[in-house]
Amino acid sequence: MINVLFVCLGNICRSPMAEALFRDQVKTENLSDKIKVDSAATSSWHIGSPPHKGTLAILKKYKISAQGLVGRQLTKGDFEQFDYIVGMDNSNVQDISEITGMPKHPKIIRLLDLTEHRKDVPDPYYTGDFEETYNLVSEGCSALLEKIYEEYNLS
Ligand code: 4NP
Repeated sequence: MINVLFVCLGNICRSPMAEALFRDQVKTENLSDKIKVDSAATSSWHIGSPPHKGTLAILKKYKISAQGLVGRQLTKGDFEQFDYIVGMDNSNVQDISEITGMPKHPKIIRLLDLTEHRKDVPDPYYTGDFEETYNLVSEGCSALLEKIYEEYNLS
């Protein structure tokens, strides 16, 4: 099993959006029995919470299932459990390294570094623009799937 964890600050806007989107892409590619997807927060603020209503609305708009999305906090033990730990911005990547005690490990990635954008995913909790975030997360998730295809010789 290939385990993928998306991480953001609150685990209510960007990382649950990425979890749902990536799971949908994995399902479309018939890889659900090979790739497991989860998400987590670097903070403890929204443990047990459902996604933000803006994230739920955009997932609904694009007919992506939001089933099973519940806020949780990243733990040190997640480092061993997951093959890809994907932060939404540089601050997430820094916090992931601190929480796991694994600075600059290749399994810790900033999502849009896999695309030509190479920038932070804007946080719609502050920008209010869930559409912009959805488009960038979608692009990043596609790039991540390509990377996994290559690294695991999937076809
Ligand atoms: P997220 O956005 O990291 O994409 O889930 C945020 C959610 C909540 C807060 C900040 C960012 N907050 O301050 O509660």
